[in-house]
Amino acid sequence: MSDLTLSKRGQHIGDSPTLKINALARALKKEGKPIIHLGGGEPVFPAPQAAVDAIIAKAQTRNIKYTPSSGTPELKAAVAHYTQTYYGYTPAPDTILISAGAKQILFNFLLATVQAGDEVIFPAPYWVSYPEMVKLAGATPVIVRPAKGLQITLDELSAAITDKTKAILLNSPNNPSGLIFDEKFIKGAVELAEQKNIFLFMDDIYHQLVFDGNKCPNPCAYSHNSQNLVIANGVSKLYGLTGLRIGWGVSENRSLISAMGRMQAQSTSCNCDLSEVAATAALLGDQHCIDDLCNLLEQNRNVLLAQLQKIPHVVVHKPQGTFYCFADFSYYNADSQALAQYLLEKALVAVVPGKAFGMDGHLRISFCAARESIVEGVQRIAAALKNLL
Ligand SMILES: Cc1ncc(COP(=O)(O)O)c(C=O)c1O
Repeated sequence: MSDLTLSKRGQHIGDSPTLKINALARALKKEGKPIIHLGGGEPVFPAPQAAVDAIIAKAQTRNIKYTPSSGTPELKAAVAHYTQTYYGYTPAPDTILISAGAKQILFNFLLATVQAGDEVIFPAPYWVSYPEMVKLAGATPVIVRPAKGLQITLDELSAAITDKTKAILLNSPNNPSGLIFDEKFIKGAVELAEQKNIFLFMDDIYHQLVFDGNKCPNPCAYSHNSQNLVIANGVSKLYGLTGLRIGWGVSENRSLISAMGRMQAQSTSCNCDLSEVAATAALLGDQHCIDDLCNLLEQNRNVLLAQLQKIPHVVVHKPQGTFYCFADFSYYNADSQALAQYLLEKALVAVVPGKAFGMDGHLRISFCAARESIVEGVQRIAAALKNLL
């Protein structure tokens, strides 16, 4: 049979709603509209100088080539150092995979572990890419919804596990809620994965962007059989280096890391040479920039909360980390897509509808933008909402 029909995958896998809103806001701005973009997923911080210097020095060698597929030894050593600092052990090079962002780590993980008939569990609200990625890998996403608030309980997680469950995906602090799973939950999730002999994929991309003295519990501290556990991280959020596209996965399960590496070798071959040197320099350079970023984000969060509190009928959970606030606007319109569209048209403010994260009625408002934009953006939202009362 010869025709030009797209595959089921090609027809049905959805766009990333967050990337879509970024593109829309950018297009409207280009048309001259004074758009305030509170839908973004990257800190406005400039790149660390060490990363910039490393790129320039590398470029000047005029030696920009393929690198070892699973990552350069230098970057793996820097990731090992990072893992020692924050997770308390030094992983061996063959237990580390460097990829084009934490996103590709997750993708490699799913391609290497799941197939048709398998289920992958994750809580709502979830990062927009989880359901589509699980589907792309041929498995079935199983969304666990909290009966109360924005965080599931351990019992709710446990109840979702079936004979078909292959993996649990957890993201803490969470995009979009900004909430951290506490020690009891993380310990329970690690033990649950071990008892049931399924994978636990910890998406720790925001684990250092935490406020009020909070700390993210370390899953490795509770692991008795580290074969189940995979931890993903990267430079995107930590250093505001989203454009480098460098993330990494660490697991003591060598055959898993090796299989994930083969997925990568057959798709992107390797990572960008310049990006790897820049990420190495960022990881080994002055780390004060992380504290500076956290302080700035914490102040931004406080400014955002103060503004949101002025809007009646909006329910807010104080974010403990990340740079997102996931507020309940259902009093104004339970259809978050329609409300986000209304706010974009009437208030010229871009936010992301909660529906994209599996929780309608909410809007995700980013506080990684400039402070003046946060204040004016929420004031514009408040004015536009008044018209709906
Ligand atoms: C929860 C979560 N995981 C992973 C990623 C991907 O990060 P990276 O830029 O490292 O691919 C993001 C980016 O927005 C995210 O929010």
